[in-house]
Amino acid sequence: MNFFSPFYPLARAALFKLDPEIAHDLALHSLKNLEKAHLAGLLGQRVSAPREVFGLKFANAVGLAAGLDKNGEYIDAMAALGFGFIEVGTVTPRAQPGNPKPRMFRLTEDEALINRLGFNNGGLDAFLVNVQRAKYAGVLGLNIGKNFDTPIERAVDDYVICLRGVYPHASYVTVNISSPNTKGLRDLQAAAQLEKLLSTLKIEQLKLAKKYKKTVPLVLKIAPDLDLKSIKDIARLTLDNGFDGIIATNTTLARDTVRGHKHANEAGGLSGRPLFSPSTEVLREFAKQVKGHIPIIGVGGIMSGADAKLKINAGATLVQIYTGFIYKGPALIRECALALK
Ligand SMILES: Cc1cc2nc3c(=O)[nH]c(=O)nc-3n(C[C@H](O)[C@H](O)[C@H](O)COP(=O)(O)O)c2cc1C
Repeated sequence: MNFFSPFYPLARAALFKLDPEIAHDLALHSLKNLEKAHLAGLLGQRVSAPREVFGLKFANAVGLAAGLDKNGEYIDAMAALGFGFIEVGTVTPRAQPGNPKPRMFRLTEDEALINRLGFNNGGLDAFLVNVQRAKYAGVLGLNIGKNFDTPIERAVDDYVICLRGVYPHASYVTVNISSPNTKGLRDLQAAAQLEKLLSTLKIEQLKLAKKYKKTVPLVLKIAPDLDLKSIKDIARLTLDNGFDGIIATNTTLARDTVRGHKHANEAGGLSGRPLFSPSTEVLREFAKQVKGHIPIIGVGGIMSGADAKLKINAGATLVQIYTGFIYKGPALIRECALALK
């Protein structure tokens, strides 16, 4: 329990009266102002449970998942809440507005969200300015993607542009091919396309390692909507191409767990509690396939310390949270970090 824990339900009740995207922006701006006044630390409590993964030193095993801070504007504010690592993005080479609003929906009874934001972000140059401005010195993952209007045959170019830009500033780089809201993106998970993408990025990583005299791990973020054959193919290609890790998983297109909800038929990716089981099963299968050769970051539906522990039991080395953080507040970071201590 920390100073703010008893008040989060009140703050949440007020925020949940607003449109989800407005609430998101308001909460993050407020947090940033608190951080500037050196007060954000009151909202969370750091748990020190250090571990070394990818050759990096993590303060604890609980990270912020990508997408909450797409432009890297809130890194210091998030760090003050006690995350053991922070991932920001997805960034694309050029700025783009994303899909028309409304594009984010709360399924409150299910502790879930559906979003079809579509990589709304300010583009690589603005992202790099923000990232370099941050004072945070912990593990920082930078998550890269493609612009919506780059033809899928040229997707690799966008990832290379982003990798070159973020490389000197990242602790690790996440290659996101699993967001459901950019047309064709998930097709990059198909074996032939994936081989080209991963091998190109690996060659680029080797060149950049020479140039900057440091090796920045490359991590692949995958979808939960994969059959066994696809999981096997992706795991094999990830290992064969010398990628350093996997993040399992992004949001799901499936709706079976929320059928009947008034927002269930909104297009987009479902996250939060209903994603926990399917996402954990995919994580478990990836863990079976990679046999400990590379670490897996487990993300999808973690709402408690017990859930975080179940991700580790299924084969994850680290975890990330997004939707649980919205529903439970900063106390969830500490609860999970203590559960994994
Ligand atoms: C509103 C929203 C936006 C997201 N944007 C991104 C993104 O830009 N890039 C990405 O890799 N994942 C993104 N995600 C996926 C999350 O990082 C995470 O993989 C997913 O939500 C499952 O975790 P959760 O159930 O804890 O939310 C987004 C999720 C949400 C809810």
